[in-house]
Amino acid sequence: MTTPMALVCQVGNNSTAPCLRWVPVPRRTLGHDEVRVTVRMASVNPIDVKRAGGYGQRILSLMGAGGRTLVLGNDFAGVVADVGRDVADVLPGDRVWGLVPTGGQGSHRSEVCVPSRWVRPLPRAAEMTAVVALPYTFTTLWRALKAIRLHEHNAAGRHVLVNGAGGALGQLAIQLLSRWGAQVTAVCSQGSATRCLALGAAQVIDRHNTPLAELPSVFDATLNFGAWADEAGVVDRLHRSALGHATTVHPLLADIDAQGWLRGSLSCWRSWRGMYRRVHDLAPQARYAWVVFKPDEDALNTIEASLLTHPLQIDVAHRAPFHHADSAFAHVGQGHPTRAVLVSDL
Ligand SMILES: NC(=O)c1ccc[n+]([C@@H]2O[C@H](COP(=O)([O-])OP(=O)(O)OC[C@H]3O[C@@H](n4cnc5c(N)ncnc54)[C@H](OP(=O)(O)O)[C@@H]3O)[C@@H](O)[C@H]2O)c1
Repeated sequence: MTTPMALVCQVGNNSTAPCLRWVPVPRRTLGHDEVRVTVRMASVNPIDVKRAGGYGQRILSLMGAGGRTLVLGNDFAGVVADVGRDVADVLPGDRVWGLVPTGGQGSHRSEVCVPSRWVRPLPRAAEMTAVVALPYTFTTLWRALKAIRLHEHNAAGRHVLVNGAGGALGQLAIQLLSRWGAQVTAVCSQGSATRCLALGAAQVIDRHNTPLAELPSVFDATLNFGAWADEAGVVDRLHRSALGHATTVHPLLADIDAQGWLRGSLSCWRSWRGMYRRVHDLAPQARYAWVVFKPDEDALNTIEASLLTHPLQIDVAHRAPFHHADSAFAHVGQGHPTRAVLVSDL
């Protein structure tokens, strides 16, 4: 067996040029319910670039994901090398994809050991590139929808406003919600409009020309994947019997980083309570949620089912070998709505 390697990130204050080194690391011991996967591809998400610049250190350290040297990444695709004695769903040699929970491991390495519930088989006809960027982002979307109780069985005919629709989360939201029969209004820049319409948006609003305040308050659900500064403008678009609003761009991690546990928590509490009250004044039954990524089996099952019929898509526009990962981090750090993928050359 070859020596395992990992992309070790020296956490700094410059998120555009992280210090990354592809170095040998000790082999992990495989747990009874775990799968050892030889990683062929792993995606770089915006969170990886932010974490390389020091973002989220305090809260993520509670999950074992803090410190000055980190192995980043959550998504992977590869080939099963070995399985623990309690694993029956996959065998050595199977092509698989999956998620590494945020913690001490990270997926930017040549092999990962993951509980089998976070691993899924790759259909024979599917390319690894088609799925490797999906798990982290789709799971975050799934948790946003779950938090406001918007799902396959109640979405048809609902009007949903997606702010930040030009990004990967927004594009997945458009695909899933339009498949469920919802009418999606996508708020994005002009450059993303054609893509949003092609993915299934019912209409597109140019975020640089139309202020959110000019949109009618007619939405059953609103999602903010754009910026916290837009939060009030987005929630104000809910109607009185709306389901709710979820945001991924809340200040939870940044405030606690900047202000410490006590003052940061207080600042977050004030921000959350202000918005919660705003939502409840507008729509008394509506839910208000700050979404944080956490693995979810239903989310992975939904991606798996889509691969057999009509795959969900995130555009991958950049590939780099693990030992030249800087260009992949630079691509994502420039704010492209597309993803970069690290590829093994072992
Ligand atoms: N809380 C969590 O656990 C969690 C998990 C995943 C992601 N996130 C966060 O959620 C956000 C979206 O994620 P993503 O993966 O979709 O990011 P992404 O792929 O980088 O896309 C972000 C898109 O948002 C749009 N945008 C940028 N600034 C905006 C603004 N001020 N107002 C409205 N739209 C704006 C841009 O598209 P256009 O220029 O085309 O409009 C940009 O391409 C990111 O901030 C990410 O860090 C949080």
